[in-house]
Amino acid sequence: MSTMMSFLAYSMATNPDIQEKLCTEIDDVMAYYDEPNYEAVSKMPYMDMVVCETLRMYPPVIRFDRHCTENVTIAGIHIPKGMVVAIAIYTIHHNPDIYPDPEKFIPERITKEEKEKRHPYAWLPFGAGPRNCIGMRFALLEAKIGLARIFQNFTFEPCA
Ligand code: HEM
Repeated sequence: MSTMMSFLAYSMATNPDIQEKLCTEIDDVMAYYDEPNYEAVSKMPYMDMVVCETLRMYPPVIRFDRHCTENVTIAGIHIPKGMVVAIAIYTIHHNPDIYPDPEKFIPERITKEEKEKRHPYAWLPFGAGPRNCIGMRFALLEAKIGLARIFQNFTFEPCA
C-alpha cells in the first residue's frame, strides 16, 4: 500500500493538472466532513480513478502464478497438469493494444464506460478469481483516507 501511495505522489508531482483536479475534488467533499472516512472517500470518484490508474502503471505485485491441477486446453493452448502458469500483471497493464499510450498517466481510462470496453482481467493489481487479494477493499479504503488527508494539506512537486 505504501508503494502505491508513493507512486501516486510521484504521478501527481509529474502531472500537476491531475493533482489540481484531485485536490479540488477532495476539498469539495471535505467541506462537508470533519475528517476523511468511508462515506467521504466513497464520494470521490476521481480519487478512485487516480488510485486505479496508479495501480495500472505501477502494480506493486508485478506477477502472480497459478498451478494447473488438470490437463486443459484453452483457446488452442494445451496446459498440462502440474504446469505453473505465470500471469504477468505489469506486462498486461502496459500492453498498448489494451491501454493506448501505456506510459502516460490517464485517469480517464478508468471510467465505467472505458472499463466495460476492456476484458475484465485487463486490470489485475489485486489478482483475480477465488484466490485474489483478500485485503483489496481494506487497502483501497485505507489508502484513500490517507491520501485525502495528505492532499488536504500538501501538494507534490518534482525536485531537480
Ligand atoms: C495496494 C495494496 C495491495 C496489493 C496491490 C495487493 C495485491 C495482491 C495480489 C496481486 C495478490 C495475489 C492474488 C492472486 O493470486 O490472484 C494478493 C493476495 C493476498 N493479499 Fe493483497 N494486496 C494489497 C494489500 C493487501 C492487504 C492490505 C492485505 C491484508 C490486510 C492483503 C492480503 C492478501 C492475502 C491474505 C492474499 C492471499 C490470498 C489467497 O491466496 O487466498 N493484501 N494481494
